[in-house]
Amino acid sequence: MPTPNFDKPIENLLTQLSTREKIGQLFQEKAECEDREDLRARIRAGEIGSLILASTPFAGNETQITLSVEDLNELQRIAIEESPHGIPLIYGRDIIHGCRTVMPVPLGQACSWDESLVRECSAAAAKEASARGVHWTFSPMIDISRDPRWGRVVEGYGEDPFLVGRLGAAAVEGYQGDQLHSMKQNGHLIACAKHFIGYGASEGGRDYNTTEITEHTLRNVYMPPFRKALEHGCLTTMSSFNELNGEPPSGSHRLLTELLKEELGFAGMIVSDWAAVTELIAHGIAANNSEAARIAINAGLDMEMVSRAFLESLEDLLETEAVSLERLDDAVRRVLRIKFCFGLFDDPYTAIRPEALEITPKARSLARRAAAETSILLKNEGSTLPLSPTAGKTLLTGPLLNVQKPLLGTWAMDGRGADACAYLTAFTDAWGPEKILTHETALMDQGLSIAHHHALNGVDQIVVFVGEDSSRGGEHYSVSDLSLPPGQVEYVEQLAAVGLPLIVVVTAGRPLLIERILRCANAVLYSFHGGIEAGRGVLDALTGSTEPRGRLPITFPRATGQIPIYYGRKNTGRPWSNAYVEQLPSPLLPFGFGLSYTSFECTELTLANERISNTSDSIRASVHVRNTGERSGHALIQIYGHDPVSSLSRPIRFLCAYQWVELSPGENKDVIVPIPVNRLGFYDRNGSFVVEPGEFILYAGLDSNAKLHARLRVD
Ligand code: GLC
Repeated sequence: MPTPNFDKPIENLLTQLSTREKIGQLFQEKAECEDREDLRARIRAGEIGSLILASTPFAGNETQITLSVEDLNELQRIAIEESPHGIPLIYGRDIIHGCRTVMPVPLGQACSWDESLVRECSAAAAKEASARGVHWTFSPMIDISRDPRWGRVVEGYGEDPFLVGRLGAAAVEGYQGDQLHSMKQNGHLIACAKHFIGYGASEGGRDYNTTEITEHTLRNVYMPPFRKALEHGCLTTMSSFNELNGEPPSGSHRLLTELLKEELGFAGMIVSDWAAVTELIAHGIAANNSEAARIAINAGLDMEMVSRAFLESLEDLLETEAVSLERLDDAVRRVLRIKFCFGLFDDPYTAIRPEALEITPKARSLARRAAAETSILLKNEGSTLPLSPTAGKTLLTGPLLNVQKPLLGTWAMDGRGADACAYLTAFTDAWGPEKILTHETALMDQGLSIAHHHALNGVDQIVVFVGEDSSRGGEHYSVSDLSLPPGQVEYVEQLAAVGLPLIVVVTAGRPLLIERILRCANAVLYSFHGGIEAGRGVLDALTGSTEPRGRLPITFPRATGQIPIYYGRKNTGRPWSNAYVEQLPSPLLPFGFGLSYTSFECTELTLANERISNTSDSIRASVHVRNTGERSGHALIQIYGHDPVSSLSRPIRFLCAYQWVELSPGENKDVIVPIPVNRLGFYDRNGSFVVEPGEFILYAGLDSNAKLHARLRVD
């Protein structure tokens, strides 16, 4: 997406700036800092280019002091009226999955496989955040993650480059809108594709840990979502904490300049992650802050978040020509271009609109729909679901039955627990107290005795709410074992033994080990922390008033020891190997899996063109699908490619298209899915994108185990 041209005003301003002022533009300070007068003085001196509206490094799970619009306007006034050249500040904040109206976490939104929903959620977040004075969000997080032990798996869109790329691009469009020259006045935000790059491959799922990724995997798995985000106009990116193949991205010229700025053609601005510049010392590639500053800015980093290596060292480094004036000016140009593009020079202040700080019915309704549609129906034996209040009396129990803040998920720093609708509230409001019996305490054996007692006296079904608190995930909070918190699975099994229909709702920020729950429950619904409307949204899904349409964006393992486990694996030379002596090699639930309240059957895959000579063509696949159940529903047709013989071994399958189709009971349809041939391509050993001639196989179905297949020849 072309950005408007501001070269003239940028060059005009650049020629006026002192070296100190230029360096100031490359520094992002914490807005919440102890010495407010000192902060004002440094803004007045032109030594700060941006403020991050956060007070701690682990903002995701910690309460952040929030500055009022008045505060932010006052600091901006100082920058505009009292600094040497009146360059406006740009305010950044982690608006990750909503602002005051907290939406489902990104991994939950990914279950929608619906770019329009993700775009709507991001646009709603931008509207609220911009009214609070935020200009720039550090989102979308488009790290590919195939290790649910990693706490930050919740912040991304899952394991697949194609799906992550499309949803990440949709988030960029939602945040930035489609008119880059009028973002600020239209309630948009500047987006930030993060974290560049490879952070999700942290060894052991331990946050910030070492990553080893081959060039081939980097180009074919981790880079595609960034390529997509930049194609959709994302104006900033963030360098990641990890060390990749010996080089921390924040100090890697190869990654930031050669790959990101030159090969991907990124003309926007790269900000470091929190103190990632001075962390080059801990990584062992810089002896001190001055070296860290030199390495980072020469690598192509443009702005330093919070640490002060640039601020304290760049003047000397320019003096000794260890850093060129050309590189400094290039970084400053990139920062100024973002500020011009966002409209900060024309309109630097935020209107005081107290009403805009409230949750609107429209935003809450979107949050509710998102929570319902992204929930995933994993089991529904004997049509236990949809639930109905007329089905007698329901016992509600479980540690997550009556919680609010944990439903908001991580990175919900503008969210308020009191705004969240607990599951219990949703049931009570909708069904009335006479239809439900609750057991809220954590004493599970008490819950059992109630269940046993009432099973004999009028309770007809049990709904148990288990899962994990949001603080078990997010940044800095990884786990070594994907089991549910202690005692929960046992409680579910004992409830199942009572003999009543048992519905289990699992709320989590990652795939958890639910094999025993799937075995003993009659129905299972999974929700990745659904946000402020998790309660009503999940109830809508349970009653079918909104169809649960979630499909897994990440593989569910049977055991933690299977990790990494993902559908796009390689065939290996011994595909018949069982891999473990005591465990199946297959996952518990495959990527793309999710049930509906009806059932579907894909019976035929045909290709309009089984021979393609022009790789700029499209394949016209037709999938015949039928609704074999008694309710209307949405089927997600998924099409995967396979290249049986190529110059490098390729995944046994790679997602290359997906399409929703709604069908009434008994209705069948030929769903036409156009697939550009270049989706069959890959980056070869020279880093060139190729669609190698030869035979391909396309698979079509309702998850990554799709069985229907058709062969295609590319000349
Ligand atoms: C954090 C995160 C990053 C976030 C930034 C600002 O440490 O790694 O995703 O945007 O710092 O809070």
